Amino acid sequence: MSSDDIRIVEVGPRDGLQNEKTIIATAAKIELIDRLSATGLRSIEATSFVSPKWVPQLADAAEVFAAIQRREGVSYPVLVPNETGYDRARAAGASEVAVFTAASEAFNQKNINASIDESLERFVPVLQRAGADGVRVRGYVSTVLGCPYQGEVPVADVVRVAARLHALGCYEISLGDTIGIGTPHKARAMLKAVAAEIPLSALAVHFHDTYGQALANILACVEAGVSVVDAAVSGTGGCPYARGASGNVATEDVVYLLHGLGLRTGVDPALLSDTGRWLSALLGRDSGSKVTRARFAA
Ligand code: HMG
Ligand code: MG
Repeated sequence: MSSDDIRIVEVGPRDGLQNEKTIIATAAKIELIDRLSATGLRSIEATSFVSPKWVPQLADAAEVFAAIQRREGVSYPVLVPNETGYDRARAAGASEVAVFTAASEAFNQKNINASIDESLERFVPVLQRAGADGVRVRGYVSTVLGCPYQGEVPVADVVRVAARLHALGCYEISLGDTIGIGTPHKARAMLKAVAAEIPLSALAVHFHDTYGQALANILACVEAGVSVVDAAVSGTGGCPYARGASGNVATEDVVYLLHGLGLRTGVDPALLSDTGRWLSALLGRDSGSKVTRARFAA
């Protein structure tokens, strides 16, 4: 058992890179994950076994997954949209996967070409096989605080989809503000509504920082008792099928916030910032982390 107060799920290698237009070398993706593994992070979402036609950047998922150095005590979930993705993930050696759907029908159609119900039906055999194979499954619900196509998303829809994923056997449900539109009181109210149906210990929050609200939202949710927070080193990321979605909250900034609150994450902030700086140099732009920018300011 870890003595950390908050577990950070680092999604940079997957959510962070999936929206990058220029194809990144496989070796660089492997180096990113290996560097992240050395920072003390305990969960690193490594890649995505979605259709390479839909997300060409992660077409090398199998090569990446085969080559990373998997550390004891670190889990490396991978995204899978269906049984084909599950087969590919298992063939590559994955022992944890993540399925994903949304609280908004319009977004789900754009993102995975399926209705919410169809997506959940696709997950049934994935969860059944994962149970038999001893593979842990995380579940994502996207657009929990708003949808780029539908606008408002009723909290009742978030609760319904999250509860169904949990009932299917997902050990943890990550609540995603895909377009970073939420504000703290709304985020906390949504979390509490879901927590009325699913234990808070089985919930995670996943904020994008499009409107600059991500850290405030995380604080509100941590104060409400959530103990798992998704983030991407250097603030990279966004969903190619969510109009206007920009980067995830930067892991460096989340660690700074949490340590400032006296909460333990097990992550070494200096090693994390070094990795963030290395990644932003690779991508040829400034870091999306204010902490990393401050640390390396002249
Ligand atoms: P489709 O075109 O409806 O799929 O796409 P299909 O089942 O009709 O299959 C079409 C072809 O794709 C077939 O090949 C399949 O074999 C192949 P063909 O016969 O044409 O040669 N195929 C696959 N190939 C490789 N891996 C697979 C796979 N599945 C089918 N897994 C599908 C449906 C779900 C596949 C597609 O829409 C897809 O891959 N979408 C993924 C989009 C995506 O990755 N979005 C970003 C991730 S979600 C996100 O970022 C949000 C999150 O961060 C949380 C938040 O912020 O809210 C998680
Ligand atoms: Mg995301």
